[in-house]
Amino acid sequence: MFHLSPSILAADFTKLGAQIKEVENAGGDWLHIDVMDGLFVPSISFGMPVIESIRPASKLFFDVHLMVVEPIRYIDEFKRVGADLITIHAEACEDIAATINKIREAGCKVGLSISPDTDVSVVEPWIESVDMILLMSVHPGFGGQKFIPETMDKIRAVRRMINEKNPLCNLEVDGGIHLGNVEEVTEAGVNVVVAGTAVFRGNIADNMAAFYEKCKKDVCHE
Ligand code: DX5
Ligand code: ZN
Repeated sequence: MFHLSPSILAADFTKLGAQIKEVENAGGDWLHIDVMDGLFVPSISFGMPVIESIRPASKLFFDVHLMVVEPIRYIDEFKRVGADLITIHAEACEDIAATINKIREAGCKVGLSISPDTDVSVVEPWIESVDMILLMSVHPGFGGQKFIPETMDKIRAVRRMINEKNPLCNLEVDGGIHLGNVEEVTEAGVNVVVAGTAVFRGNIADNMAAFYEKCKKDVCHE
C-alpha cells in the first residue's frame, strides 16, 4: 500500500500542531519524524518532548527516523512518547539484531535504514526481521537536498530482495523527493515516500493532493 510520509523537519515549528492537522485533513496517514543527534549526522533536530507534545493531537502513524548513534539506548523512550514505527541506521548500531529485538519488545514496528554510501547487501540479512527498509536518497542530516540518482538501482535491488524474502515489508525512500521524481521511485519499487520540503513549502493540502494524484494507482510490487 502506498503511503506519503511528510517530514516535519521542513514544517514551520511556530505552527507545528496546525500543520500536522493540515496533513491529516489532506488525507495523510503517516508522519515522518527526523531525530538527529549531532553525532551520527552533523546536525541536531529535536527529540522526545516534541513527539510527546504532538502525539495527543494526531492520529497519524508516527514514522520515527532515528539518525542517532546506538539508538538501542532510547527505544523505550521513543515508544513511550508515541512512536509507531522506529527506524534505525545499520551504520549506527553495534548490534543490529539486539536493536531490532528491542524495538519489537517495545511493541513498535521496525525499520532499518542505510545511508547513500552503504551497500544494499547490508540490509539483505534483515529483510525477514523488519517491517520496513529505508533507503536514504541524500546524505542524512538536512532537509532540502538533491536526490542522489544512484539510489534508483538500490531501490530496484532492495525491491527484488523484499519480493523474494518478505513481500509485506515496506520500502521507503527519503531525501530530495518531489513531484518530478516521485513516479520514478514508486515505479522502481518504493511504496512509502518521505517528502519534507515538497510538502511543507507552499500549500500543504495542494502539495499532498498532487502527490496522491501522481501515485494514485496503488503500488503493488508483489
Ligand atoms: C534527512 C531527513 C529527511 C529530510 C527530507 O536527513 O532524514 O527526512 O527531512 O527532506 P526533503 O524532502 O526536503 O529532502
Ligand atoms: Zn528522514
